Amino acid sequence: MALTGVGRLGRRLALVLVVAVAFGGAAHLPGVLPRAQLPRASAAEAATTTIVIQLGGVASGFSPSSVTLAHGDVLRVVNKDTMVHTVTSVAVDAAGDPLFDLVVAAHATGTLVIPETLGAGKYSFYCMIHPNMQGTLVVTGEGGGVPEPPAFEQALRIPEVLTARNLTIPLRRSDVRVMPTGPKTRMWTYGGSFPGPTIKRPAGSVTRVTFINNLPKRAGAMTVHQHGGHQSSADDGQPTRQLIATGSRRTYTYPLTDAGKPAPAGFRFYHDHRMGRTAANNWRGLQGMFLVTDKRERRLGLPHGAYDVPLHLTDRSLTPDNQLTDPFPGPHMRDWMTGPLAPPNDATVGKRILVNGQFAPYLRVEPALYRLRLLNASTFSAYDLALSDGRPLVQVGTGSALLPRSVERPDILLGPAQRADVVVDFRGLGDEDVILSTIPRTDTTHGTGSRAAAIMQFRVRGTAHQSARVPDHLRPVPALDVPEEVAQVWTFGLTKDGHGSFWSINGKMFDPGRVDHRVRQGTTERWRLRNSSDVTHYVHLHEEQWRTVSRNGKAPPPWERGFEDTWRLDPGETVDVAATFTDFPGFFMVHCHMLDHEDHGMMAQFEVLPTKGPR
Ligand code: C2O
Ligand code: CU
Repeated sequence: MALTGVGRLGRRLALVLVVAVAFGGAAHLPGVLPRAQLPRASAAEAATTTIVIQLGGVASGFSPSSVTLAHGDVLRVVNKDTMVHTVTSVAVDAAGDPLFDLVVAAHATGTLVIPETLGAGKYSFYCMIHPNMQGTLVVTGEGGGVPEPPAFEQALRIPEVLTARNLTIPLRRSDVRVMPTGPKTRMWTYGGSFPGPTIKRPAGSVTRVTFINNLPKRAGAMTVHQHGGHQSSADDGQPTRQLIATGSRRTYTYPLTDAGKPAPAGFRFYHDHRMGRTAANNWRGLQGMFLVTDKRERRLGLPHGAYDVPLHLTDRSLTPDNQLTDPFPGPHMRDWMTGPLAPPNDATVGKRILVNGQFAPYLRVEPALYRLRLLNASTFSAYDLALSDGRPLVQVGTGSALLPRSVERPDILLGPAQRADVVVDFRGLGDEDVILSTIPRTDTTHGTGSRAAAIMQFRVRGTAHQSARVPDHLRPVPALDVPEEVAQVWTFGLTKDGHGSFWSINGKMFDPGRVDHRVRQGTTERWRLRNSSDVTHYVHLHEEQWRTVSRNGKAPPPWERGFEDTWRLDPGETVDVAATFTDFPGFFMVHCHMLDHEDHGMMAQFEVLPTKGPR
């Protein structure tokens, strides 16, 4: 065990600069730096141990990564990097908040006094914003205790399923049962629930959804995007056009077809897409799921009905009275381009992971096959999902469509907006509990990682009579003549100018008045997505059924060989994609789906030009 920087400070402890120290539920990330707490001057001699975070962003780490301290000792964290980092315990209290959570601004020093209440033992810690940065704190001495971790107390809610051709969904404020006990959480919702009702419609059947904006006036005008959908530009949820003013309504038409054929069955979602406010509006609750089904999928014999469970995963930080924190700067450039939360430090991480809007729920299942539709609807965080007993996840789809072949995976990394359609086999279990967790990502050392946390529990009980199966071959992806030539390169980066910093595409900040690329309807193009920044981005392309041509010049992994709409781009990565631009001329978006990044410049638009007419 490495021990460095031990110094004796004794009674001078109170002079140590405290940037931010918080325990329990008091702090949240990253908007409001947690309430500072002055270290208690200890009668006994206290030691100070220093951890240094070197310059390097996501490539940075804690040095040393393992420290030993006694109660009353001081952990000093010197952040030499240009980004904010945190020292956050993996262990959480019963409410789901970390046992310690020190936020250290760029080029600053933070201190943490080890409180008597933190029991002796070994605590893993990580950076909540860059979970690939990990370390260990050993607390020596006596006393204290580790609080009980959260129990799985709430039965999982399945959002109401709407199946009609014409639907009306009011946007309204509602009190939602997020935590198992205590007050409900006030949210902005689709239809009164969080997530909103699940829309479930057969491919090829036109669907009209009328959204009525009954939110408080201060919420402003709204716009709804069906993520993964193929619809006209006016029905795509434009960030600055065709908005739904307070008190008014708008009907979106979703044909659920592509080039005259039914669109593939898939697991999509709908969410707010308002310029500059997308992160805040989604955080407050404007998200819902959208399932497209088809006959072909039914013929495959995948688990269905009660054995087909949509799981909307997202994180939130809550106050002690269970209300959402407000970590967001204002929507105007002057609000976010400078200051402690300016890019790259605009990273909204929630401390508690919710499933279908509930913290730590359980689902009673039979010893049978279950189809789980996994959606990461988080603002910023990625989760590497795995089951506690090592049971594999058999991936059958991406969310955009079924994969050509099923693929067995020990864990599945999902960034914001990514989905995985998986089958889990609970057969052979009797009276056992299986936990769905996120585990630290291990497939790379240079991308933003994922945290370790328990998410929900499956209680396997009873017996099953079921004829479901997982076929090897699912749905071939139709052949496409992919051009050799790259028609457009989109480079995702961080840019600074005289006003401050912003996330950029090809060096530019999003401008709704600018068209960044034009393509003729009916053509097929190959685009290149490149990450020139030093953090991971999750890049989303609207409108078409995209396929992954290559990842870093090589064939994509088996789970990226179907249709796709959101790709992980670790620093330095290049992904080539291709699609045919069918049916709809007009404006469509390209953006990072880490919603802070999207709001803070990392969005562009392309225009599909009608088949005939001027270019
Ligand atoms: Cu899910 Cu443009 O967004
Ligand atoms: Cu991003």
